[in-house]
Order: sequence, then C-alpha cells, then structure tokens
Amino acid sequence: MSTSTAEPLIVVDLETFGCVLRSESRTGLCRIEIYKDEDDVPRKNPSKIISVEQVSNLQTNLERKDITLCMFGETVTFGCTSRADLDDWTTLRPTLGIICGSGLGGIADELESAQVIPYHEIDGFPECTVPGHAGNLVFGLLSGVRTICMQGRLHLYEGHPAWLVTMPIRMMKLLGVKTLIVTNAAGGLNDTFTRGDIMIVKDHINLAGMAGLNPLVGPNEEKFGPRFPNMTTAYDRDLRKLARETAIELGFTDHLKEGVYLHLSGPNYETPSESRFLRMCGADAVGMSTAPEVVVARHAEMKILGISLITNMVITENDSDKTPPDHKEVMETATMRAKNLQLLVKTIAGRLQDQ
Ligand code: HPA
Repeated sequence: MSTSTAEPLIVVDLETFGCVLRSESRTGLCRIEIYKDEDDVPRKNPSKIISVEQVSNLQTNLERKDITLCMFGETVTFGCTSRADLDDWTTLRPTLGIICGSGLGGIADELESAQVIPYHEIDGFPECTVPGHAGNLVFGLLSGVRTICMQGRLHLYEGHPAWLVTMPIRMMKLLGVKTLIVTNAAGGLNDTFTRGDIMIVKDHINLAGMAGLNPLVGPNEEKFGPRFPNMTTAYDRDLRKLARETAIELGFTDHLKEGVYLHLSGPNYETPSESRFLRMCGADAVGMSTAPEVVVARHAEMKILGISLITNMVITENDSDKTPPDHKEVMETATMRAKNLQLLVKTIAGRLQDQ
C-alpha cells in the first residue's frame, strides 16, 4: 500500500467490473488507474487513463494485478479483476451468507460441493489473524441452499477500519445474498444465562459504532442503501421465530435464550465496572463483532439472523475469585457446542425457502 493524494481520475462503481471478489472502498467508489507494470504502482503515474466503458471492455482481458484501486488516499492492488476470475473459483451465486464466529468455523464444513477460497489467495483481501478463524470463503450448498460462508471474520481489534471489516458483506450483496446468518461468541451479562447457552439476537447496541467506529461513516453509496438507514428491525422477526422453533424442535430448549448483543471493539475483555455498565445499558451479552456487519447488511436490505454462543459469563464483581474469561475458555465452549450450532444453522437454512 502507498499513499496517494491525487484527485480521482475516473470514478467507477465496482459493478462495472461485474467482479465481486475484490475489495472496495467504503463508499463503493474507486479510482482506477492502469499502470505499465507493477513497479509503477506506488508512483501515481498511470500509463493510461481509461473510460468506464473501456474498463468494461477490457475486463476479460486484464491480468491479475493489472488494476489498482485507489481508495480514500490508499492505493491497493487487487488480484481479481473480472467475473472470469471469480468463475475460475466458483460459478455458484449464493443467496445465503453465513459468518462463522470464533471456533464456529465448522458450520462451513456442512456445505456440500464446497469450493474453498483462502482469503490470502484473493489479493487485497484482509487476513484473519485470530486463532479459531480459518480465513476462507467457502461456497457450496447448505441443505440445498446456495451459500457463501466466511470461515473466519474480520474484527476492529485486528486493526482493520470498520469499512474493511464489513467489506465482505457488500461483496456478498453484489453476489446476490439476500439472507445473512451471523454467528458469534459472546460473554453472558444476563445472570439468568449460563456458559454454553445459545442466544438468538433480538437487537444490538453498537457501542463501538456509537463511539464513532460505524462502518457507514463517510460518503454514502446509494447503490447499497440510503444515507440514514433504519435499524428498528435489524434482526428479522420471522427469522428469529424460525430459529426459536427450530432450536426447540432440535431439543436445545434448556440452553436457548433470546437477548440483546452489545458490541465493543475489544480486544481486552471488560473490567467488572464496564460489565456492570453494559448490563445497565440493557445488554444480555457482549462481544467484539457482529454489529458492524449487521449495520452494513441492513443498509443493503438483507434479512438477518444473529446467533450468539455464550462462551463465558462476564465478571461483574470487583475482587471476584471467579476465573476471568480468556480466549481458551471461549474456544473450549465453542468446541463443546459447535455441533449443536452447526445443526441449528443447517436446519434453519433448509427452511428458509418457506420464509
Ligand atoms: N467479552 C467480550 N467479547 C467476548 C467475550 C466477553 O466476555 N466472550 C467472547 N467474546
């Protein structure tokens, strides 16, 4: 990456390329420059300035790394330049998107005829740095539904800006995804909860977003949604009902909960005073993901189901003798409940057609 301060030469929206396996600016708008060769890229001297139509015509002829997208002053070269590139990996166009939370990547293993694309094979796609997040896009059929699964998600605490954390949601939207199932590991704040509970998310408090880390900050890209999107029905009522009924049918009644998820940027776990504060805010569980993705997905009018696995209970008393949460406990609980969650998500997927 290098810094560019020049004004955009041409502004095109990404759909012009018809390629979705490519990152995008937070506005969805990019400057496109064609360089003579890769060595030229950091020096902002495009050898050729081309029109949008020319880009469209060129797209199937371009080699990987031929196109550089200049986004908000950053120059990033992406590898996938045309729909033909995407088709090299998969021709499946999913309608269901799934994001696997910490230790819950096994959901992707349920996909039939799976095509796995490691993030690191997509030039410019951010890497997953967290244990328990494999870092693959998995395309396949889940209970017969065309699905794309993020086996490993991106978090603010990894240092990614909010727009980049949520970039895969817009990628999914461009691929044709209509319904998004977001899973996560979370700490239980509600004292009727216990470790291992499955919480259907009925709403969220995007505390990190309220503090400025909102992925929609910046120029609005009307193509995806309005400037001031509505969040009153962020977590779809029908999907929640479907999830509840399915969980009960599968016999998960004892550890089935419904509640409000609160998003913090992390990476540290909460102090007892913070935990008491979050509880007073009306949150039932706290975690370091999900809300940014949901905000961007709702902006783009996707239907969303959120499922939290309560991997630990947070500590609300100072000087407590209880063992404080750590990533090991989170992963152990995720492993303990992984099969249940996989079955739940798979069964829900199979019933989506009835929605
Ligand atoms: N706090 C924040 N995030 C989490 C927790 C927690 O206790 N458990 C899993 N993710």
